[in-house]
Amino acid sequence: MKLTSIVIALFLSAFSAGASAREPEEVAGRLFLKLTGTPLSLGDSRRQGMIDLVKAGKLEEAARIATADPAFFNLTIRHWGAPLTNRAESPAIGLNDATAMIIGLARDQKDFREILTGNFTYGSPEVALSPYNDQHYAQISDLNLAKVLTRVEPQNADLDEAAGILTSRAWGEAHLQAGTNRRAIEFTFRQFLCNPLQNMRDGTIPDTRVHRDVDRSPGGNSQTYLTTCRTCHAGMDALVGAYAYYRFDNTGPFGAGVLQASKVQRKYNQNGDVYPEGYVTTDDSWINLFTENQNKQLQWRGPLSGKGIKEFGRMIADSGAFSKCMVKRTYSQICHRDLETTESAVLDGLANRFEQSGYKLRELFEQVAVHPTCL
Ligand code: HEC
Repeated sequence: MKLTSIVIALFLSAFSAGASAREPEEVAGRLFLKLTGTPLSLGDSRRQGMIDLVKAGKLEEAARIATADPAFFNLTIRHWGAPLTNRAESPAIGLNDATAMIIGLARDQKDFREILTGNFTYGSPEVALSPYNDQHYAQISDLNLAKVLTRVEPQNADLDEAAGILTSRAWGEAHLQAGTNRRAIEFTFRQFLCNPLQNMRDGTIPDTRVHRDVDRSPGGNSQTYLTTCRTCHAGMDALVGAYAYYRFDNTGPFGAGVLQASKVQRKYNQNGDVYPEGYVTTDDSWINLFTENQNKQLQWRGPLSGKGIKEFGRMIADSGAFSKCMVKRTYSQICHRDLETTESAVLDGLANRFEQSGYKLRELFEQVAVHPTCL
């Protein structure tokens, strides 16, 4: 065979494979299944409309029909959001306030950065219990959440300052209970920047904010501190001041969940005798020192220091890494594979669209579902 005929043969086979994969009926069915987790039956009244839109090349409008289905919120968004709200990162957990917030923001087409900054929650007025009680969510867990969830403000009357999920009951139970609140910082990176602390370690960060409870010479070896402990704690301890006034309490008459005091919680300065010269927390100020070397990729944009959890949440939500992380999570779920490192143009493109759309989670799902690399 001559080279030209090989090329033509290849072209024809690629074309016919492409054409069969792009039958409008099949595309409509795939889009619906990807976005709702449920098949589009032949008798469904929305089917022809979706097929016509696909034929007309209006894939995004076809996807919009799918995301109007309650299953998009009740199954797809819920399954996407639940792992962000618990320590085991399990999607198979009962409904909680944090997952309800994610579903609510998606349904109401709010700026999804509110998930780290907003003073709101979502619950159902049909349940007598306050939305700040886990029993509230047990009672509505099996209902049509796309319908029953109602926005409630403020998030929690006991808090002076709320920051979306970061002050939710579920998050507090997972990360602010006992301990030193450091885990809440670690999991913010993990869940919202898709960046485990392990990847952020940097031995060049000044250790002026490392707390007194961290041994500077573990096992009598100061090198261990310098090469190991410091690489995480120098950056993390400088940020954990954001949570200095918060703790989680599930016991006693005031067992209301996340509690906020007007002074630094005792746990911040516990075990001060380990290294008395270490940093003493006196207020809720924080400073972001994870800004050099590999952490430049996080694309920090706003102020790199502040006070309290809301300003911290704002910094995370405004970063480039936040938008990319939301894309990566959505892509993995909808397209059943992770974006490859070689696909950075796809990632950047979808992240830019997400930001230009005003951070609308529903639109992000639609954009991902219709993306040629996914469909
Ligand atoms: C990979 C990052 C990382 C490294 C390296 C690291 N830590 Fe930590 N450390 C953390 C995180 C995250 C927490 C919070 C853990 C939690 O509460 O679940 C923590 C918590 C602590 C605490 C508080 C424990 C408590 O709850 O009272 C101490 C003390 C501590 N680390 C000391 C050290 C020492 C000493 C070293 C070096 C031998 C070290 N860390 C190395 C990330 C790190």
